[in-house]
Amino acid sequence: MRAWRVHELGNPDDVLKLEDLPEPTPGPGQVLVKVRAAALNFFDGLMVQGLYQERPPLPFTPGTELCGEIVGTGQRVLGSTSGGPGAFAEYALMDADAAWPVPEGMTDEKAASLYITYQTGYVGLHRRANIQAGDWVLVHAGAGGVGSAAIQLARAAGAHVIATAGGAHKVKVCLELGADHAVDYTAEDFVPVVKEVTGGHGADIVYDPVGGDVFDKSRKCIAFEGRLLVVGFTSGRIPEVPANHMLVKNYSVVGLHWGLYRKHDPALFGMVHEQLTRLVDEGHIDPLVSRALPLEEAPAALKALADRSTVGKVVLVP
Ligand SMILES: NC(=O)c1ccc[n+]([C@@H]2O[C@H](COP(=O)([O-])OP(=O)(O)OC[C@H]3O[C@@H](n4cnc5c(N)ncnc54)[C@H](OP(=O)(O)O)[C@@H]3O)[C@@H](O)[C@H]2O)c1
Repeated sequence: MRAWRVHELGNPDDVLKLEDLPEPTPGPGQVLVKVRAAALNFFDGLMVQGLYQERPPLPFTPGTELCGEIVGTGQRVLGSTSGGPGAFAEYALMDADAAWPVPEGMTDEKAASLYITYQTGYVGLHRRANIQAGDWVLVHAGAGGVGSAAIQLARAAGAHVIATAGGAHKVKVCLELGADHAVDYTAEDFVPVVKEVTGGHGADIVYDPVGGDVFDKSRKCIAFEGRLLVVGFTSGRIPEVPANHMLVKNYSVVGLHWGLYRKHDPALFGMVHEQLTRLVDEGHIDPLVSRALPLEEAPAALKALADRSTVGKVVLVP
């Protein structure tokens, strides 16, 4: 089978090699799947460079979420590859008990995109931030993979959404995804906008995959008893928060590491998948796939994500 491999860490353009490898052999509890679509995540590029918190042993095949067809049964499933990366290939291994059925009628590309960002968004908004109908939710980088899922999920929970994004096109995408208001935060300060739009109340929940200055500014427009969700640091800077500021404004900074539930509450993934399937069936959520590229395009696709030039999800089709 064809599979991308990383033998040494570095720039994806330099270190990714498309190789011909034997199909992987399933171990106990695993299934072999023919990959129908593999979705990209920002951290795939970080992992190839050795800049992510998880460092798989070399050599490895990158790619962490997919829609595949179980070899033998033909059932279409979605989820993560077993025990780490491995989806940017023609075949991959999944854990049999974590290969989730694809919602009725959903395309392979959208199904591959219904896992990491939507599960993260659902767990973040519902379990970690206790989202309530009527809340004001501020979603940063709302046109990105994580952000686009969060806009749809917050709307599905009955919240009002203000999104930020870089540039006019991305602002339009946020509005099309269901945001009530969207701000080009590369051109305009979002703090006064949030205060004005919420009538001085502020954001009850901030969903922040960007960090850096965006996180710092979010503390200026968070509501009384607000929850600031720490989702990621695409800006490249890990921010810090003075504890006295949390005290005087009475808000919480809430960490979110969805993957950790594998250890602490493995039953959560199936429950969340059921909720996501229901939301798909009811028409509340629908993954935005902006590009479906052939498997050979993996390096260019990873570069596009790193360059901030994509909206929604980018998928590879072997
Ligand atoms: N906590 C968790 O459990 C969890 C789970 C999944 C992903 N994540 C994290 O969530 C973050 C977003 O992932 P994603 O897959 O949604 O990525 P993505 O689709 O590439 O979107 C990220 C967006 O971040 C914004 N951004 C701001 N500054 C940037 C910079 N300097 N370089 C690149 N992008 C920048 C860009 O939007 P604008 O141009 O609009 O600013 C970009 O489109 C990543 O840090 C990822 O690791 C966390």
